[in-house]
Amino acid sequence: MCGIVGYVGKKDSVEVLIDALSKLEYRGYDSAGIAVFENEKIAVQKSKGKIKDLLAKMESDKRPTGVCGIGHTRWATHGEPSDINSHPHGNKRISIVHNGIIENYKQIKDFLITQGYGFESETDTETVAKLLDYYYDGDPVNTICRTIEEIRGSYALGIMFRDFPGKIFAARKDSPLIIGVGENENFIASDVPAILKYTRDYYLLEENEIAEITDREIKICDTHREPIIKELQTATWDIDAAEKGGYEHFMLKEINEQPTAIKTTIAPRISNGMPYLEESGLTKEMLKNYNRIFIVACGTAMHAGLVGKYVIEKVARTEVTVDIASEFRYRNPLITDKDLVILISQSGETADTKAALELAKSHGATTMSVVNVKGSSIARASDIVIYTHAGPEISVASTKAYSVQLSVMYLLAFELAYAKGVISEEECKKLTKELMDIPEKLAEVLELKERCQFVASRLVNSDSLLYIGRGLDYALSMEGSLKLKEISYIHSESYAAGELKHGTISLVTEEMPVIAVATQSDLIEKTISNIKEVKSRGAKVIMICSEDVEDDKSVTNHLIKLPKINDILMPMLAAVPMQYIAYYTAVLRGCDVDQPRNLAKSVTVE
Ligand code: G6P
Repeated sequence: MCGIVGYVGKKDSVEVLIDALSKLEYRGYDSAGIAVFENEKIAVQKSKGKIKDLLAKMESDKRPTGVCGIGHTRWATHGEPSDINSHPHGNKRISIVHNGIIENYKQIKDFLITQGYGFESETDTETVAKLLDYYYDGDPVNTICRTIEEIRGSYALGIMFRDFPGKIFAARKDSPLIIGVGENENFIASDVPAILKYTRDYYLLEENEIAEITDREIKICDTHREPIIKELQTATWDIDAAEKGGYEHFMLKEINEQPTAIKTTIAPRISNGMPYLEESGLTKEMLKNYNRIFIVACGTAMHAGLVGKYVIEKVARTEVTVDIASEFRYRNPLITDKDLVILISQSGETADTKAALELAKSHGATTMSVVNVKGSSIARASDIVIYTHAGPEISVASTKAYSVQLSVMYLLAFELAYAKGVISEEECKKLTKELMDIPEKLAEVLELKERCQFVASRLVNSDSLLYIGRGLDYALSMEGSLKLKEISYIHSESYAAGELKHGTISLVTEEMPVIAVATQSDLIEKTISNIKEVKSRGAKVIMICSEDVEDDKSVTNHLIKLPKINDILMPMLAAVPMQYIAYYTAVLRGCDVDQPRNLAKSVTVE
């Protein structure tokens, strides 16, 4: 949700800023802009649209030159995507880029208007730029301290003062920011992939810290100007991980990375053939003594939690409540200090999930996060962290992050089931082994791409479709449906197959394809009855099932068959054809697969 970058060094800053921004474009792509020190002035270029539009503008207009600058890629909140609303904002003296939302911007704006300030844009950010100007006293850190004292909301800020060429300043609260440490060059960025090409070393800027950065020096202090010594972090992510590596889209690359991502995530958590989550601080003793388990997340991560609920309840016979974070935080949930609240988040920065975490903590519950980004806010604030090791996920539509989140749900379910004595050591080892075999099975499933491409060609002209399933298949179909609608723009709903006849079946016509997920042998007969109900009303039916299901044209039009494994683990395989179907449908419809309209990957506003 908006990406910010900054560079100071010896290189052409425009080139570095554009390159770094391109790695953050998943955070928003409504507009882009840069500000660079050029001949002791701040030169700004910005444009509505993507980074390529900014590049085109610089080509036809003017490309600033200089070795120090800041940049921004925007997901619009206050004010439509336009050149004027693009960042950087400011005036001749000050230029800023911002990720977050300033909640009291209206009051600040009204005050500044009384002080003679004029405003060009509709953004909340411009008020911060002008407030900095108002407080400017020749001392940038002092000016920043006074300004952030006045603003409420969330921000990661990159700031340049005309009087201090060769320096960038940064501050943050509730929005992520790292400081990349290079050799005779330094960086700021919203996320690690932006700097990987230049350095792996970085500092995590914490809440209310202010950084002053030149090519050789990084000074960090708190709002009382007390210096802060930080621990240097080293990124373990591969540089290639943030590149397409020959694939047409990041999404396709990330779908194909799933076997490795799962292997890397589960391998360190298995010891002597048993799940082993103790290194993250979650002991068996703790696990079995929680009164209740809540899983809270947003989007795809919430869907992973739903599968987790079915699996934990089935295998460990323990009740789990799953919530959408934005609902959880306002429904006054009944949490106590005897409960475990699990937050799932790829980015570790999702505003609602973070707020849900704080709420759980305020009730004294133990918080455990399942997070992909090391050092992210949610990871740092949780009592226990289980990092997934998917590597950077760039495509807005989440794929490999979902699979690794599922794999953690399985480990947790097996460990809990064993800790509670619901399953024996032998049964636990068997299940764990079956989970360890998933990456190999997935490699087979990835070969189904042509079959899925064919299915996509049958869906491409539809306006609307239904995903149906029962039990685990229902939980899974929610993700299939979300994936399809978010990137192909075909309206899609997922529905519990048994519930169709209570209303939704009235939508079914020949024009509405139905994708039935039917991987659970104890439920397949019932699902087939529901399929027949829609088939007899003209729907074309695609069924995702295991290889032992017979091809019966009176039931389905097209089958996608998966290797037969333990039913409980089928979601791990069935996710792939759903991802492929969404991907190829979007490609055939000419959609922007990696950057679907109106979306952003990291949602740092509520
Ligand atoms: C956005 C993304 C989704 C993601 C959700 C939660 O909506 O587009 O792909 O599932 O946020 O993000 P998180 O980083 O918390 O998993």
